[in-house]
Amino acid sequence: MSRIVYVNGRYLPYAQAAVHVEDRGFQFADGVYEVCEVYGGSLVDEAPHMARLGRSLAELAIPEPMSMAALAHVMRETIRRNRVRDGLLYLQVTRATGPRDFAFPPPETERTVVCIARPRSLESLNALAAQGIAVKSVSDIRWRRSDIKTVMLLPACLAKEAARKEGAREAWFIDPDGFVTEGASSNAWIVLEGGTVITRQISPDILPGVTRGTLIGGLAQEGISLLERPFRLSEAQAACEAFITSATNTVMPVVRIDAVTIGDGRPGPITQQLRSRFHQFASISAG
Ligand code: PDD
Repeated sequence: MSRIVYVNGRYLPYAQAAVHVEDRGFQFADGVYEVCEVYGGSLVDEAPHMARLGRSLAELAIPEPMSMAALAHVMRETIRRNRVRDGLLYLQVTRATGPRDFAFPPPETERTVVCIARPRSLESLNALAAQGIAVKSVSDIRWRRSDIKTVMLLPACLAKEAARKEGAREAWFIDPDGFVTEGASSNAWIVLEGGTVITRQISPDILPGVTRGTLIGGLAQEGISLLERPFRLSEAQAACEAFITSATNTVMPVVRIDAVTIGDGRPGPITQQLRSRFHQFASISAG
């Protein structure tokens, strides 16, 4: 089945979908994005994803390309046209297209909007989660506004590639003081003896993950205690359990950090409990 991509008002076959060579996303990474999970044909946690998109646009003074309701329609239509049951939806908005100029164009200049939906196999994701993943630590070389979900992802690409070379699926960024900020494309969590779950507090140093927010609600429902504070790499390596969260993984166990095995090297019980319950914590909107 040929995939259909939404680009600037049109639904086009994948091979024909294109943006201009002078798109500011291409030249300056001047754009923002969202990745949402599609589960059983429905968007997971649509409202907080749209709220975060609105915030990312506002922080960069990119005018909304259309109403949030119209964007939501585009997202649903892209899922429908691609007949995605379980998969991922990617939405990107860049400031404009135009002759290369660092300063912003007039606010009425059209934004570029792209929406892609693709299926993926839940079986292989679950098989990976049954094993758990390894992560590699790298220094956090990103700018100081990691709370904005921009397409400026080169540090994340470098980190993930370095991780891949060492057989790790994710990289954890380490700040100059030795604390874990977050994953290259996920939030980082550990579980201490006694079952307290730790994740770094929201600040400009990390992306406020939608999955993170949903899981925090779920922890309360499960009666699991949470501390939002920074943790060092050494504390993570000595923890009973570790995991990451993202729309692409929901809750994914971490069983090795650099050369150190976490716990007994298998996904921990709290992590497994949270993974299996995740879609009950999330809000799943009608397709
Ligand atoms: N990334 N931190 C970073 C740096 C991220 O890029 C992401 C998500 C997260 C988790 O956020 P959420 O729970 O809202 O997915 C945290 C997406 C999935 C990506 O770039 O593919």
